Amino acid sequence: MSDDSQRPKAGSGAAHPCLVSRREFLLGAGVATATVMVTLNPGTPMAQEVPAVVATYPRKLIGRLSELVVDQPLDFAYPDEGVYSESFVVKLGRSAGGGIGPEQDVVAFNYTCTHQGGPMQGTYQSAHKALGPCPLHLSTYDLTRHGILISGQAYQSLPQVLLELEGDDIYAVGIFGLIYGRFDNLQG
Ligand code: FES
Repeated sequence: MSDDSQRPKAGSGAAHPCLVSRREFLLGAGVATATVMVTLNPGTPMAQEVPAVVATYPRKLIGRLSELVVDQPLDFAYPDEGVYSESFVVKLGRSAGGGIGPEQDVVAFNYTCTHQGGPMQGTYQSAHKALGPCPLHLSTYDLTRHGILISGQAYQSLPQVLLELEGDDIYAVGIFGLIYGRFDNLQG
């Protein structure tokens, strides 16, 4: 069985201390890192190989397929526990872009509106398989089509959390799209 210690806590959003290095922060946030050698000034007499730390998305257990109920979102935080990481996985009961499972109807998205960061927890619409309207300016997103905008002020799709199924376990493994308020999804 996979590591249950990584199972999500709904609504979690712990702050991180400021006085840590970026590498320490990434490690503390559960973000996987690898050290690779990169060549500076390639093809020149000054060429040299230096080590560089590269951050990659964590593989995080977020739920179990057998425990999902159609139209009942399950909250988790991804790719870390930092600001704007609140996300949800939902079984739509209808096949969807990026969906996993036998019906390809299980998808996951970030909760934060891409317009100005409106919190969209509690706005799931089962009738339309949509998230919204955003409480700030009414943007609504289509969860069957990679979170594209249906209506409202936003002009970017809702970031979709990429999923993998291993037996009954659902893992978050990446994000398609940029989370509001971040210049890099792996920045806390
Ligand atoms: S913040 Fe959501 S529509 Fe403006």
